[in-house]
Order: sequence, then structure tokens, then C-alpha cells
Amino acid sequence: MDISGLKEKIEGEISRIGNIEDLKRAKVSLLGRKGVVADYLDKLKTLDKDQRRDAGKAINEIKTWADLRIGELEKHFDEIERQKKERASLIDITMPGTAPLFGRKHPITLTLEEIIRIFGSLGFAVAEGPDIEAEYYNFEALNIPSDHPARDMQDTFYIRPGVVLRTHTSPVQIRTMEAQLPPVKIIAPGSVYRCDNDISHTPMFHQVEGLMVDKNVRFSDLKGILSIFIHEMFGPDTPLRFRPSYFPFTEPSAEVDIGCVICRGAGCRVCKDTGWLEILGSGMVHPQVFRNVGYDQEEITGFAFGMGVERIAMIKYGIDDIRQFYYNDIRFLSQF
Ligand code: PHE
Repeated sequence: MDISGLKEKIEGEISRIGNIEDLKRAKVSLLGRKGVVADYLDKLKTLDKDQRRDAGKAINEIKTWADLRIGELEKHFDEIERQKKERASLIDITMPGTAPLFGRKHPITLTLEEIIRIFGSLGFAVAEGPDIEAEYYNFEALNIPSDHPARDMQDTFYIRPGVVLRTHTSPVQIRTMEAQLPPVKIIAPGSVYRCDNDISHTPMFHQVEGLMVDKNVRFSDLKGILSIFIHEMFGPDTPLRFRPSYFPFTEPSAEVDIGCVICRGAGCRVCKDTGWLEILGSGMVHPQVFRNVGYDQEEITGFAFGMGVERIAMIKYGIDDIRQFYYNDIRFLSQF
């Protein structure tokens, strides 16, 4: 029987062992009950006594040697395994951390919150109305009949005849007055919609309406409240002016401008060289509006105003394209 091939065979197998799985497989195929060594031992039966003794001794020597080699390899892989586990159980405090990505409030939300905070401190409660609004509340009740040219300026999306996406927050004036008696002192923030889309208009934008109704509310109250608001919002040195204007639901009506915060009145691109920026519409509530909600227009008076939130945010943060608010560009949004 030729035993010389056995050692080579075992050596070959062992040299191919690269990991613990290889090792397990090799152990079975070399030293197992049906393995290569067992095979050789089996063949001893075919030999006569003397030959059997010599061959048996030689095979057993090889087996002992193979046991040793495999035992060493087992130790080696066990150690690797142990080190791996040890490393996995350690927290490496020198590793750079992975910072979670925090969300933050949208600049329009921030501006809305600031507006609500300021008017809240002046005693105004927050009222709300639906975005999908009856044409009556959006127009007729506000003294804008269907043939009124003011409707052109607020051309809008009709859901179906008689139902629109509201073009301003003024319908909340009507809803609030229908629901409660004077005194009324509310602001109404919310989304509004118009068929517009350019550098200074988006089809959806935000307004905050204001309404104060009571006995003896005067234009000077409007002026005082808005002055406080503007000075809180844009700084105490910000000049403002009331400019005569027209809205069907206020009389008299005024538009309010603030001194351009970019050029401080010197004239620039943003204020179109006028030194002023228009920020809101306002006026004393029209008697017809009071009649429409069943208020006694002999007894009470009131003022109303409406401002564009995007417009205010643009002025406050120096943003020159309104569409930036709605591109959802993280580079833009993460600046606030
Ligand atoms: N609703 C008007 C607009 O959207 C603004 C306004 C509100 C004017 C209240 C006067 C009083 O243009």
C-alpha cells in the first residue's frame, strides 16, 4: 500500500483552508469517519500482518500530525473570531458621529407665527375659514357684486358655479361676524388662491386678515395697531405711510407702505425707485358689509386689513423671487 500520497493530499487540503468554514469541511473530509485517513486505515485489512503493522504506524503518524495542524488552525480561527467579537462590542468614541438631519420651519410658517405673536400680544384672537369658499362669502357679502371690476383683479379657480378657492382671507370677516356679536378682534391667517404665476405671484399664497369691530373704533386705531405691528416686524425705525386706495368692503380705504428696507428710502430695484414698499390693504369696514351680516352700522364701527405673508417674508429676509418659497430647495430652506 502506498502511503506517500496521503500526506501530500492532506497538506494540499490544509493549504486551501482560508476560513473557519473551510476548516470544518476539511476536518470532516480528512479526519472524519468516512474521511481520507479512515479510508486508508480501512485498506489495512487487505495487507498481511507485517505490512499492516508498518503501514498502520505510518498512517497513524500522519493522522497525529494532521490532528495537530488542524488543531492549530482551529485555535487560529477561534482567536480571529474572538477578536472580531471584541471589536464589535467596543464603542469607538473617536469615530466621527452621524448627525441626524433635522427639519425646520418653513420661512412662511416662521413669518406667520411672528405675525400671530405680535397681534396676539395686542389682543387679537386667531380665526379661520375654509379654503374652498362660497362665492357669496368671497365676493357678494364683501360688497363685490358679480359685475364688479374688482373681480378681475382676483380672478380665481372655480370649483363649480358658486364655489371658489378663496382669493383673499376677507371672507373670514363675514364668517366671524355672522357667528358672533361685537366686539370682534380677530386675525385670520391662511392660504389664498389666484390665477397668477410670475416672479412676484404664485397661484397659492398666504394672507393674514385683521378685523376689529366695536363701538367707537376709529381710523386712528387702525393706524396705531398697524404702526405697532410694523415696528415690531421690521424694526422701530421703519417709516410707514397710508395711501388712499379702494376696496369695495372698506370706506375709506388705504394701502400701507413701509420705507424700503433695502435702500432705506434712497431708491432701488426692489422699491422701483420709490423708496416705499406696499405691504397691505386696509380701511374702515363698509356699512354695507355690516348690513350684510346683520350688524347695526349706526352703533358700531370697525377697521379691517389684509396683508400678504410672502410679501412680508420677502421684505424681511431680502428674497427677490416669491417662487423660491415653493421650489422646496433645501439650500434655500435651510437658511431660515
Ligand atoms: N382682501 C384685500 C386683498 O386681498 C385686502 C384687504 C383686506 C383690504 C381688508 C382691506 C381690508 O387685496
